[in-house]
Amino acid sequence: MRLLLALLALAAAQPLARAESHWCYKIQAKASNYTCLEPDSWGEHCQKDRQSPINIVTYKAQLDHNLGPFIFSGYDKKHKWSVQNNGHSVMVLLGEEITIAGGGLAARYRAKQLHLHWSHMLDRGSEHSLDGDHFAMEMHIVHEKEKGASRNQKENQDSQDEIAVLAFLVEAGSKNHGFQPLVDALADIRKPNMTTTLKESISLLDLLPKEEKLKHYFRYLGSLTTPGCDENVVWTVFEQPIQLQQDQILAFSQKLYFDDDQKVNMTDNVRPLQRRGQRPVFKSQAAGLLLPLPALLVPTLTLMAGLLH
Ligand SMILES: *[C@@H]1O[C@H](CO)[C@@H](O)[C@H](O)[C@H]1NC(C)=O
Ligand SMILES: *[C@@H]1O[C@H](CO)[C@@H](O)[C@H](O)[C@H]1NC(C)=O
Ligand SMILES: *[C@@H]1O[C@H](CO)[C@@H](O)[C@H](O)[C@H]1NC(C)=O
Ligand SMILES: [Zn+2]
Repeated sequence: MRLLLALLALAAAQPLARAESHWCYKIQAKASNYTCLEPDSWGEHCQKDRQSPINIVTYKAQLDHNLGPFIFSGYDKKHKWSVQNNGHSVMVLLGEEITIAGGGLAARYRAKQLHLHWSHMLDRGSEHSLDGDHFAMEMHIVHEKEKGASRNQKENQDSQDEIAVLAFLVEAGSKNHGFQPLVDALADIRKPNMTTTLKESISLLDLLPKEEKLKHYFRYLGSLTTPGCDENVVWTVFEQPIQLQQDQILAFSQKLYFDDDQKVNMTDNVRPLQRRGQRPVFKSQAAGLLLPLPALLVPTLTLMAGLLH
């Protein structure tokens, strides 16, 4: 009897385990004749209702004065990072020395890795959209909450902000020299599980828009955008896009493959939009509303006129 139960359990568990290890994006599902699980069929937490990505309606985002500037530490550290094709994306492993705080976050968070999502269509490659518009790519820097001594196991499990992802939209523009070492590395990691190191040292700040632009961002609570889609992510979507030259963007779709046989280009690794539901989206001061110059000048001039009298 016990053996029978064990066998039954094994039989039941096997297809599930196989299915879960074979999640894929829609473009791969099509190419494989639907032998892998496309986004609509992802398991674990993926069919719940606090998922990511979402469309952000910028004028509806609520101003939250607690959403101050971030404190970036180690973001200026130049290094020849290790880069990997993980079968779903290109991932840069970030060591242990990079952290963020501030930004309205409840704790300090340690950076783990960054990866990107993209398409060969320049208006389809981002996961989040702003007012319905998708961008060419989206970069995610993934951070984990630092464990304080006072925090117990239950707290950790229930927490909706265990992971902090900083999301940067990417648009086509002028050549981005900061990104070029990463673009150059793509040819060395064409197939899944291939790893290389950058030939030239770069820092995270080399990849980002100018630091003063990073005050403007949107904030909401959601999930990982890949299975298990755990609903423990505090999202920050920056308003200022990163600019890459079109050729730099297209290199991702042209150099990388989802499969060992190099039949399916790695492109459209983008989860479809999820329902926002009742979740609020917040904005930091001035995000979505850059103050026009005259509005700043008038009070200043009035003040000066007052002083002259
Ligand atoms: C795809 O799968 C269906 C159903 O299993 C099968 O009938 C069809 O021949 C397959 N097509 C290809 C191109 O493998
Ligand atoms: C990548 O490596 C992991 C662990 O070594 C393995 O389980 C997986 O099947 C590999 N993936 C591919 C696509 O080769
Ligand atoms: C797929 O890769 C090949 C080889 O690099 C490239 O010529 C082609 O343009 C790529 N397709 C897309 C959609 O980027
Ligand atoms: Zn991501």
